[in-house]
Amino acid sequence: MKRSFFGKLIAVYACGTVLCMVCVALFWSKSYRDEHYARLEQVLAARAVLVAELARREPGEAGSSLKAIANRIDTRVTLISPAGAVQFDSMEEASRMDNHLDRPEVMAATASGRGTSIRRSGTLNEEMMYYCAAQPGEGGKPAGYVRLAFSTTSVRRSIRRVYLAIWSGTAVATLAALGGGAFLLRRITRPLTRLQESAERLKSGDLETPIRVDSRDEISLLGESLERMRTNLREVIGRYGEAAGRLEALLAWMSGGVVATDEHDVVVFVNDEARRLLRLPPDATGRRLSELVRDRELLDLMQESHRLEQPRTEHLTLLGAEERFVQARIAPVHDAARKFHGAVAVLVDVTELRRLERVRSDFVANVSHELKSPLTSIRGFVETLRDGGCSPEETRRFLAIVEQEAERLENLITDLLSLSEIEARRAALSVAPVDVNEVARSAAQRFGEAAAQQGLAIDLKLATGLPLVPADENLLGQAFGNLVDNAVKYNRPGGSITLETAREGGSVLMRVHDTGIGIPSKDVPRVFERFYRVDKSHSRRLGGTGLGLSIAKHIAAAHGGGITLESELGKGSVFSLFIPSSTIAS
Ligand SMILES: Nc1ncnc2c1ncn2[C@@H]1O[C@H](COP(=O)(O)OP(=O)(O)OP(=O)(O)O)[C@@H](O)[C@H]1O
Ligand SMILES: [Mg+2]
Repeated sequence: MKRSFFGKLIAVYACGTVLCMVCVALFWSKSYRDEHYARLEQVLAARAVLVAELARREPGEAGSSLKAIANRIDTRVTLISPAGAVQFDSMEEASRMDNHLDRPEVMAATASGRGTSIRRSGTLNEEMMYYCAAQPGEGGKPAGYVRLAFSTTSVRRSIRRVYLAIWSGTAVATLAALGGGAFLLRRITRPLTRLQESAERLKSGDLETPIRVDSRDEISLLGESLERMRTNLREVIGRYGEAAGRLEALLAWMSGGVVATDEHDVVVFVNDEARRLLRLPPDATGRRLSELVRDRELLDLMQESHRLEQPRTEHLTLLGAEERFVQARIAPVHDAARKFHGAVAVLVDVTELRRLERVRSDFVANVSHELKSPLTSIRGFVETLRDGGCSPEETRRFLAIVEQEAERLENLITDLLSLSEIEARRAALSVAPVDVNEVARSAAQRFGEAAAQQGLAIDLKLATGLPLVPADENLLGQAFGNLVDNAVKYNRPGGSITLETAREGGSVLMRVHDTGIGIPSKDVPRVFERFYRVDKSHSRRLGGTGLGLSIAKHIAAAHGGGITLESELGKGSVFSLFIPSSTIAS
């Protein structure tokens, strides 16, 4: 058990006080007792002189008068011969008494003229003080002894009374001293206790409660120092907290994933992006990373970085529902003494970057391929014609093919240019209120002849009261035209095309229904990609480049809208182009 400072002080003080008081009481008691017995001895000595004188003057009838005097002064008188025989005793028959030379007081008197002894009397069975005086005789030898005995009972009673007074007085004084001392000590130690409580509060993290000490001594100086320490600490911790908060916000909201582990591989920090990339549970903090992550590559990289004591950077493929590519940077954390304290991993998701790179390289490959095949064809026919030997009929046919291929090249280049133009000027469309019914009517007119040639009818199902939409009319016409063009190209003889306009929510819809060949469901998500064609040879035969839908989709997106597609193989397709109409009233 921890003993308090006050407890220790009061224990020492109490022991000291009690010890002092007991010493004082013992000293007083002893002095009083010694004093009392000394006085009794003096009285007995005086009486012995008188008794000796009496015995000498009346040797014959000493017995009776001595007895009377002895009774009067409550003192037993014994006269002893030089040989030790009892000649007279005031309380006993002398002849029956034994030799008294061996009594301590008699022996002392033989040696020095007088002797005193306090002991229990065998005859009277009580404690007595014996005083013996040797009577001077001839040649320095005692002529006999006078011995007086006085009961100490009354003396002891009186001593006991005084003892009681001394000890009870001492006890009261001790209690008073202890009470007063405890009060004073409490006053002295209370500020210390307060300081200790304040220090405890500081230790438990309470930096708000001020530290005050009500005293005007060294303890108050200590209190002031502690108070200064508290305010400084609060300021420092406040600044540290702000910095930590900023850092945490930065780490939490940065685009990369961050995971920090301690020296035991336990996760101490993880942000949302890292949680998403590594598929970590919400309670990942405080658990071992190797138990949470199944991507061996990442764990190996972290170990390698720890082993080599160097940062490592690597591109990794993370497993999961969908494959993700990340650039992982691992840095070991060391303190000033190069002691390892864990690692920090920064993961940057480069999946989209990779996809874009692939799209770009695919695009270049596709463009090269699309340009190469008509050029190869043109060169082949030109060489054949240059070599001569062709009939006029063949020459005409070859030239027609060359013309057709040249036209395809032109279409391709026109489409590529318009695609890049739309992408480039996305922010600067020449927007004006456009009537979508008008756009549909103009498309029907433009493609009317081509449709009629294939025995197709174009029906119009235009809604009335549609709002005008904010759009670039030429581009919108181009996008919608591409959809109608496809409906004509990928239709079947005797089929039909319906152009429909409608209002849906905050958007205006332009739909193209056809009863054509339809699109297999696996190709539906891909037909909007550049150069993607379901049936390459069929499209190419029709002079298609595979860019029409991609252009239409870009135009719709540039207007804040989009294109959706529903199709059933062998039955037909429905393309719906929607443009938000919210900004312009009808
Ligand atoms: N209405 C449709 N019915 C059936 N298939 C279609 C339809 N519209 C598009 N497709 C398929 O989608 C592919 C991509 O169409 P897209 O308009 O982008 O290219 P294209 O028509 O081949 O060439 P372009 O339009 O540049 O002349 C087409 O090749 C075709 O296979
Ligand atoms: Mg097309």
